[in-house]
Amino acid sequence: MKTEKWDASKQSLIKAAQLLNDQEVVAFPTETVYGLGADATSEVAVSKIFKAKGRPSDNPLIVHVHEPNQIKHYVREISTMAQKLIDHFMPGPFTIILKSNGIVADTVTANLDTVAIRIPDHEIGRALIQEANLPLAAPSANLSGKPSPTTAEHVYQDLYGRIAGIIDGGATGVGLESTVVDATGDIPVILRPGGVTKQQIEKVAGTVELTGSLKEKQPKSPGMKYNHYEPDAPLVLIDGDQTFFQNHIKTYQQAGKKVGIIASKPIVDQLQADISYNCGSKDNLSEVAANLYFALRYFNDTNVDIILAETYPQEGIGDAIMNRLTKAATHRHIQNTNI
Ligand code: TXA
Ligand code: MG
Repeated sequence: MKTEKWDASKQSLIKAAQLLNDQEVVAFPTETVYGLGADATSEVAVSKIFKAKGRPSDNPLIVHVHEPNQIKHYVREISTMAQKLIDHFMPGPFTIILKSNGIVADTVTANLDTVAIRIPDHEIGRALIQEANLPLAAPSANLSGKPSPTTAEHVYQDLYGRIAGIIDGGATGVGLESTVVDATGDIPVILRPGGVTKQQIEKVAGTVELTGSLKEKQPKSPGMKYNHYEPDAPLVLIDGDQTFFQNHIKTYQQAGKKVGIIASKPIVDQLQADISYNCGSKDNLSEVAANLYFALRYFNDTNVDIILAETYPQEGIGDAIMNRLTKAATHRHIQNTNI
């Protein structure tokens, strides 16, 4: 299959929308990461998403709509609490889980009785959904297990020849996926930390539970149990001060390994490794979030044997950063216990 690359003109959107109505899959920009969209009501179209990504079929997909009034078409009920969340966070990097009314294909929900819905806060993404006049099932547009794509080029690298086309809307803003929140019960439960923080949700809904956490053996969000976001070289998280970090770089180098590091300013300038990636300022975790998947993909084009990454405080967007880093490192984490 030839994969077309389009700009974000009206003409491109019409072409992409036509392909979506012909049950093809198309990648498009959102404010979090690029999505791989298909008609959420068509088993045939949705099966092409799973095939293109190599995604396990028990991992359900998020349904993307272009405005809040669309949500009611796909769910059984919207509680007062759920409506509050919708009013505050949608459109935005926020996905709400509600009871499904069965309109979307069973493969989208992986046969669960719930459905995940999101409204991207991205003009091009929303314009495409509206033009197609379809609910779009869309996971992140990467090969399963790889870091999510934050540019059209990343999508191209992973999915060229596997999908009908890509709309290039430039780099995404948030850089990490949406916060997935189960709103089927009395209090909201965060299944995956993301662009909207726990503190922001608490302000709106009072008590909020955070599960799907890394320590849990049985994650409630099915996708959380698979390996994710992995760069080609093994990633190890280093939790300690500059001297501790530098000692670990040295140890790996003495073992004959080429060492890449991912760290923020100011520490990144002081560490000596073979290749360094500066992912922003530690005082601005939004910047680190926006650069994280760039960093993980950056080392795939280098010859490093190992990547060492700094850790971040688990507050605000730091929750989502550490969630992704810990998964990318498949839990390899060296802590300085001497502090
Ligand atoms: O920012 C995002 O959310 C991006 C953009 C493209 O919108 N999408 C995204 O999709 O990250 P994906 O497929 O990579 O992740 C969807 C997550 C998975 O962890 C999945 O298990 C969970 O949402 N999920 C989907 N439907 C669910 C459901 N009914 N119940 C529980 N978890 C669900
Ligand atoms: Mg994903």
